[in-house]
Amino acid sequence: MKGLGIYFSGTGNTKFLMEKFKEKFDAKGVSVDLQAIDSSENFEDKYDFYIFSAPIYAEFFPKIYVDWVEKNVNISKGKKAILTSTLGSKGTPPALKIMAKILEKKGFEIIIQQEITMPNNWTGEVPSEEKIKESKEITEIKVEKIIEKFFNNEKMIKNPWKLRYWLTLPLVNLMENYLKKWATKNMSVDSNVCIGCKKCEENCPVDNLKVDGNSVNIGKNCVACMRCVNSCPVNAFRIKGKEKEQYKF
Ligand SMILES: Cc1cc2nc3c(=O)[nH]c(=O)nc-3n(C[C@H](O)[C@H](O)[C@H](O)COP(=O)(O)O)c2cc1C
Ligand code: SF4
Ligand code: SF4
Repeated sequence: MKGLGIYFSGTGNTKFLMEKFKEKFDAKGVSVDLQAIDSSENFEDKYDFYIFSAPIYAEFFPKIYVDWVEKNVNISKGKKAILTSTLGSKGTPPALKIMAKILEKKGFEIIIQQEITMPNNWTGEVPSEEKIKESKEITEIKVEKIIEKFFNNEKMIKNPWKLRYWLTLPLVNLMENYLKKWATKNMSVDSNVCIGCKKCEENCPVDNLKVDGNSVNIGKNCVACMRCVNSCPVNAFRIKGKEKEQYKF
């Protein structure tokens, strides 16, 4: 048996989750390949099962993730899937139900559908090392439980509250635009700090940054993944003009 994990991760939470899936499945003699959607458009229908995961941005999966799955994922019917999301709060987000519908339409049988709470990479205080360690341990235990259920073919499907789902569903496009506007309005780079290394430009999943010397132009296509802000080697990004402690999971 062989699986493929298809994911998007802005700042490392979801990547960590997927690496844990790989490690724990491998330990049981089941090999899992991982594919980040921003590194390849290739999709192969040669796996026995698939794992899907991405962070939640304002209740939904990032549009780049949904679009990638819609466009590239094509399977022969009846393949099993594990569908998860990472997010900063508790409770099942509408994104899971929306993506479940997309996957089921493509012929997947969803065995597990569950959110995984991890530190919030957008708002709130940056968690301490202790908190991050704790979150990693909890995530590991959750992954073990999910894998156990998956092996037993025991379905575990978590859906959002009906009211939460129906109230937020019409807001999908609005939220995407809101995030773009939020980024354009609030993100900037301090040219006095920037060293022009181009790391942010190279790593942006939507090609939204252009570095020219020590100046960085932030375009209008941002998905607010926070990768550039948190991975700049000299912490040159500013949010609302202010320096922000970087989030490192
Ligand atoms: C723009 C943005 C919006 C977010 N919106 C939500 C949200 O609506 N609910 C929530 O629980 N977490 C929210 N988060 C937190 C992330 O979903 C969470 O930290 C996630 O695990 C980050 O994953 P990553 O490190 O793989 O990118 C948001 C984060 C960002 C950057
Ligand atoms: S990663 Fe930071 S230092 Fe490097 S170009 Fe971007 S803003 Fe400048
Ligand atoms: S500009 Fe930064 S926050 Fe926006 S999509 Fe690119 S890496 Fe993510």
